Order: sequence, then C-alpha cells, then structure tokens
Amino acid sequence: MNTQQPDWALASPQRIEQALEATQRRGTGGWFALEFSERAPTDPKRYQVDGHELVMWRSEGELVVSPAACPHMGADLATGRVCRGKLVCPWHGLALPARGRTGWRPYPVHDDGQLVWVQMPAGDEALPRPILVERPTRRISAGHQLDLACDPQDVIANRLDPWHGAHLHPHSFSQLAVVDGDDEAFGLDVEVKVGWSLTTRARVTFHCPTARSIVMSIVDGVGKGSVLETHATPIAPGRTRVLETMSATSDHPLFRPLSSSGLFRRVLRQRLVARARRLWVEDAEYAERRCLLRGRKTAHRPPLASPQDEPVGLPYPI
Ligand code: FES
Ligand SMILES: [Fe+2]
Repeated sequence: MNTQQPDWALASPQRIEQALEATQRRGTGGWFALEFSERAPTDPKRYQVDGHELVMWRSEGELVVSPAACPHMGADLATGRVCRGKLVCPWHGLALPARGRTGWRPYPVHDDGQLVWVQMPAGDEALPRPILVERPTRRISAGHQLDLACDPQDVIANRLDPWHGAHLHPHSFSQLAVVDGDDEAFGLDVEVKVGWSLTTRARVTFHCPTARSIVMSIVDGVGKGSVLETHATPIAPGRTRVLETMSATSDHPLFRPLSSSGLFRRVLRQRLVARARRLWVEDAEYAERRCLLRGRKTAHRPPLASPQDEPVGLPYPI
C-alpha cells in the first residue's frame, strides 16, 4: 500500500461499502442491545426497539421485557407498577405475570453483565443467546449512549471508514495508517493524543460480530487487550440508539494495583466516557449525513422522546 498518498486518496468508498455489505449479511440472532446492566430499572421503564414499544421491569429481581401495551385495552404499562412480582396496569388493574398471558408475552432477555439484550422477531435466524464480544478479564468498564437521526448501518459505516480518524478527530488522533484489512475488518496504526501534549502509538482492529455491532480492539500499544463495543439499536426508521461499552485493560505492571483503587477507576471511567462523547460529536454528524445522502427524510434530527433519551455519560463498575 502506498502510504505516501493522502488519506482522502486512500479512503476507498467502494471498500467501505463492500465491508458494510459483508457485515450487513451477518445475523444478529434477533438480539438487540437495550440497556446498560447498571441502569436496568426496577420500576417499569419504556423503551422503543425497531418500532415496537417495550417496557422493562423486574419481577422478584429478574429482568422482564415485554410489550408496553396492555393486552386489555392498550394502556401504557410503563406507567404501571409492580406488585408481588406482577406488572399492574394503571387503567383497570390487570395484573400481568412475568411469564405472560394470552395475547401478551414477554420477550427473551439476556444480561451479559454490561448490557441487557432483548430478542425480538427480526427476520434473522433466532439464536439462544446474543453474539457477544470477548472482554478482558481484568478491566475497567464504562458505558455511554446517544440517539442519532440515522439507521444502524450508518453507525457501522462510520466505523468502517478508518481513514477519517486523523482528519475528523484531530483532537484525538494523528498519523493514521490503515495497515491491513479484508472484506469485513480493518487494522490500523494510529497515534493517539492522550492529553497534556502526550501521544502514544497503538495498533487497533475493527470488526463486526453482527450487522449491528462493531468492535475496536487494541492489539498493540498502551491499553493492549482493551475493547470498545459499539452497538446500534434501531428505535424506529431513521432513528438509532448507540450503546457503547468500553473495557479498558493494560499489561502494564501498575494496572493491576491501580485498578483496585476506586479513585483510579472513577477517573479512568470519566476519561473514557469524555473521550467517547467527544468523538461522537463528529461521528454523529458523519452518520446522520450519510443517512441523509442515502435519501432518507432525516434532514433534521427528530425530537428526542424524553429527557432520559439525552446522551449521557455512564460510568459504571464491572
Ligand atoms: S387497559 Fe389495562 S387493564 Fe384495562
Ligand atoms: Fe470517528
């Protein structure tokens, strides 16, 4: 590869589209990333996935995700309450058990320790569990979410364009070179700006375990073994929720003792979330513009459904 050429000449729209097409053929098993495990509610909470209204609640400690419409007359069960393990409808008091009843069945749920997943009929071959990413054993984790006016494929396409890193995010990266890749993955060397004029080099790879997830792994350099998972969950046509989890680790001898320090963990989590949110300032524009260019009527970001949908930084423990 001729690395003397500028990035705009090396960035291949065809290669990005090819990689995207290959990843979009990957199954998901019908599973959607729904919520961070740490934020899984106790009281009923409303979600929207792929145009369906859902409610998440707990029945005797167990997470339940079910349709949000009451099977009686359609009341919003997210405004109901839980009593003796049953979800009680606010309109006429029908008590719905966690196992469901005629015409109203909860969906399969899986909590992988960092993310809560829900399985819904989506045309994919159903799998008993979501396709998960291997995370480092000793890690400090953080989560971050935001809603975008685009479709999941636009989020994945943004990450499958590694050439934009140094130019679109000059505050974070420089001297980026794509070193290998095939139809479904890329590897790159990049200089990462870590603050106070300090930089470090890293080799990272991007791959898509499913059509709606992309994973960045640090395979060499500071933070070797760390993974950043980006999960794109469709809310409705032209609207996507991005749930990112960062699992930071290091083979530095100081990481083990430092990772036992609550202060160190808190500071690192805050920095991880701050960096992720900073990168998404530009990546959100990229993904939404790509969606617009595909001809969708998403010139203006639709209003967010509620204050809880605002992008949040979410540090949480492993
Ligand atoms: S609408 Fe729920 S009990 Fe009537
Ligand atoms: Fe980016």
